[in-house]
Amino acid sequence: MARALEKIIIVGCGPGAESYLTPAAREAAQKADVLIVSRRLQDLFPEVLAERIDSGTDIEGTIDLMAARRDAGLQVVLLATGDPGIASLAQPVIRRFGRENCEVIPGISSVQVAFARLGVAWEDARIVSAHSRDPEESAADLRDAGKLAILGGREGSLKWAAGLIPELGSGRRIFLCEELTLPGEKVREVEAEELLKVPVASRAIILVIREELIP
Ligand SMILES: C[S@@+](CC[C@H](N)C(=O)[O-])C[C@H]1O[C@@H](n2cnc3c(N)ncnc32)[C@H](O)[C@@H]1O
Repeated sequence: MARALEKIIIVGCGPGAESYLTPAAREAAQKADVLIVSRRLQDLFPEVLAERIDSGTDIEGTIDLMAARRDAGLQVVLLATGDPGIASLAQPVIRRFGRENCEVIPGISSVQVAFARLGVAWEDARIVSAHSRDPEESAADLRDAGKLAILGGREGSLKWAAGLIPELGSGRRIFLCEELTLPGEKVREVEAEELLKVPVASRAIILVIREELIP
């Protein structure tokens, strides 16, 4: 009888600091024969002697490699920054292998940390990813969001946000949250036009919040 293949384990690794990595994430990583990692996470779990495959930018190519290793009977573990439910490879991987063949270990998202730093609840937040390219959403699509979290540490993400924010209407405050949980963490309030001038860390979130929603 054919042996059942292992589930792909997708592990949320938090925003960067070891102290924000959960014991469940650590435990899951130890099971790996093959770790799929981005450049940013490559130094995590040095004690795990698994094959490491760079998740790179070729999503389909990476998923093909995952399938080949799984078919060979190996345990494949995909590491995601923050929580896998936000802007990660988790969705294309789950679509390809099927939900029943994947296990997701949640992680602490950088979005959670950003809102936590301000003491603002985020159950009603809209999250937009400008991480790798400008989002398709327009100001009209986002105007109703009282709380907006924009992911992106590209210079282009800041330019996009600087163009968008004035079109959302007045009465909003803007917070630039960089390197969250890491030694260089910086959370500061800025004006929209400042976003055009500030050099930004590659890990950054912009929160745009209606002023009456800030305690
Ligand atoms: C590919 S997305 C992944 C988001 C991740 N799944 C999460 O839940 O945090 C990468 C983006 O997350 C944000 N990010 C990740 N780590 C961060 C950190 N330590 N500080 C600030 N932003 C961070 C940045 O906006 C970055 O461009």
